[in-house]
Amino acid sequence: MKGVILAGGLGTRLMPCTKVTNKHLLPVYDKPMIYYPLETMVDAGLEDIMIVTGGNYAGDFLRLLGNGREFGLKDISYTYQEGEGGIADALKLAENFVDEDKVFVMLGDNLIEDNIKKYIHEFEKKDSGAHIFLKEVNDPERFGVAEVDGGKVINIEEKPKKPKSNYAVTGLYMYDNDVFKIIKKLKPSGRGEYEITDVNNEYIKRQKMTYTVLKGWWTDAGTFGSLFRASNLIADKLNKGQ
Ligand code: G1P
Repeated sequence: MKGVILAGGLGTRLMPCTKVTNKHLLPVYDKPMIYYPLETMVDAGLEDIMIVTGGNYAGDFLRLLGNGREFGLKDISYTYQEGEGGIADALKLAENFVDEDKVFVMLGDNLIEDNIKKYIHEFEKKDSGAHIFLKEVNDPERFGVAEVDGGKVINIEEKPKKPKSNYAVTGLYMYDNDVFKIIKKLKPSGRGEYEITDVNNEYIKRQKMTYTVLKGWWTDAGTFGSLFRASNLIADKLNKGQ
């Protein structure tokens, strides 16, 4: 299984902090944001990891993370997203890197408490399909929202005005190799982006989607409120360990 961290975008919701740097390099308590998804992948046992970045500060990822030795990796792969095509468009750039393998994708601004090693192992054993991670939230309208029925996800709506549940679709996804064929057939959404929600709905349509509800906390860090929350969650976790 390959790991892909998506760390492009302009970070417009965090202006002016993102005027002279990439969102994923901003601090979450005591480390740059990108460290957290990278550590989640390394802790889950992934060794082949690619970072997809973009914008004007891509070189800073190399300066910060180098070849990944600090994280226990032999090396890290990097690629560059031109323009603002959305999450699915960014994932498309990892096609050669993933080759014929499966892929675990994590958004660079997502942080989780759980270790997801066992879910990765379970997915590796499967022949095909996709797997998503859900978390109950108080503000589902900010996210992709999953409608769940009889132990199955039956539909996902991206940022619905009237959410059908409190289950946010977190920015952690596992896919078989068909994901790249699916992405190539996508049409841009109303906001002009290739949406990961459309990819997930295609797997649902094919009856190939499974899910896990995360036990520990989950947060994104792409708005001032959630960035602040992420820092507090990390601070609490570190203080508990003392
Ligand atoms: C993206 C996805 C959304 C998901 C969220 C998780 O939204 O489009 O489905 O729930 O990440 O962080 P974004 O924050 O990029 O608008």
